[in-house]
Amino acid sequence: MSLIEWNDELVLGVAVIDGHHQHLVALLNKAHDAFIWGLTPGELTATLQELTDYANYHFAAEEELMQAHHYSGLAAHQREHAAFRDRIATMGHNPSGDSFPAYLELIEFLLEWLVTHIKTVDRQTVTAITTPSAKE
Ligand SMILES: [Fe+2]
Repeated sequence: MSLIEWNDELVLGVAVIDGHHQHLVALLNKAHDAFIWGLTPGELTATLQELTDYANYHFAAEEELMQAHHYSGLAAHQREHAAFRDRIATMGHNPSGDSFPAYLELIEFLLEWLVTHIKTVDRQTVTAITTPSAKE
């Protein structure tokens, strides 16, 4: 069973962003599955690395889109992305064999952060850049 199912509440209406988010959800499920399947610490690290690398690629794409639309909330949104990176760096993504709780804690953080960020900050941004009158 997947950790999270892609659903309508996560759809923002901009195809490229929705596609990225869908892929992030798939990578999060993959990282969770890796834990369930009992993969080695090295394999767990690789799945988390894939997820964080893709998140960074996605953040850059979102920030480019906001720049292209001269979105006034860009700096605040960038700070959200930076806080995410800092949190991941602090929690680390190199779990050893006996630190599975740390791995699960990281997965839970990623799940909570991703869903909350998409539903609030990303939705607000997409609404602003796709609705001229709503531009801040
Ligand atoms: Fe974002």
